[in-house]
Amino acid sequence: MSTVHIAASPDQVAPALLMPGDPLRARFIADNFLTEVSQFNQVRNMLGYTGNYKGQRVSVMGSGMGMPSMGIYAHELFTQFRVERIIRVGSCGAYTRSLQLFDLLLADDAWSESSFAQAYSGAEGPLTHPSPTLNQAIKNSAEQLQRPLISGRIHSTDVFYRQQSEIFRELHRRHGCLAVEMEAYALFHIAAELNKEAACLLTVSDCLETGAAATSQQREAAFTGMIEVALNAL
Ligand code: ADE
Repeated sequence: MSTVHIAASPDQVAPALLMPGDPLRARFIADNFLTEVSQFNQVRNMLGYTGNYKGQRVSVMGSGMGMPSMGIYAHELFTQFRVERIIRVGSCGAYTRSLQLFDLLLADDAWSESSFAQAYSGAEGPLTHPSPTLNQAIKNSAEQLQRPLISGRIHSTDVFYRQQSEIFRELHRRHGCLAVEMEAYALFHIAAELNKEAACLLTVSDCLETGAAATSQQREAAFTGMIEVALNAL
C-alpha cells in the first residue's frame, strides 16, 4: 500500500527511523552505515532506505526542509507505515557563543512561532516536546561512544532568511533558545499526538553571533559522528 508521498508497503519500513532533512544524506547513511539495504521510496526524490545496523533493522528517509514537509512525511510514516520512533538528525545555527561549530545538541524541547501544532490538531502553545525515553537513549549512546552532548531548547523557525537579522538575540534571551533549525517542533507535536516517539539531534553548522560557518566537507565529517550516536540509540 502506498500513500500520496511514499510508494512502499508498510513491511518495507522499519519501526525505528532516522530522518535527515536532505534525502542525499539518507542515501549517505544507507551506503555507509547499513548492510543489506533496500530502497523503499523515490517519490519526489525523497529517498528512503531500510537496512541493518548491528543486527537491528532500521530505516532512514529524508524529511525535506521546513515543517510542512516534515509534517507530510512524519504523519504518513507514523500512521500508514507502522513507524514507532523517529530521530531527526540535522544541522542548526547557534544563537549563543556558548555553542561552537560541530557541537552536538540534543533538543530538550522546541519553541516556535509556527502555527503548525494549531493547524494539525488545534493545540495551543509555543513548545513541543520530544520523547523522554528516546532522549535518554541518545544520552546513553553519546556517553557510550564518548561524544560530548549538550542538551537544551531549540527554535524551530519557518523563516531561514529574515529582514530582522538580529532577532535571534531576543529569541535566546526571552525564550532560552540555544539554536535554530526548521523541523523539530512539528515532528515532536505529531509524534505526541499519535502516541509515537520522536527526538532531534543536531550538529552546529553555523553561529549567528560570530558568522562562523562550516564548509560542506566539515559538515559531512561532523554529520558522521552524529549518525553513529543516533543509530546506536535506536
Ligand atoms: N539550520 C542550520 N543553520 C540554520 C539556520 N541558521 N537557520 C535555520 N536553520 C538552520
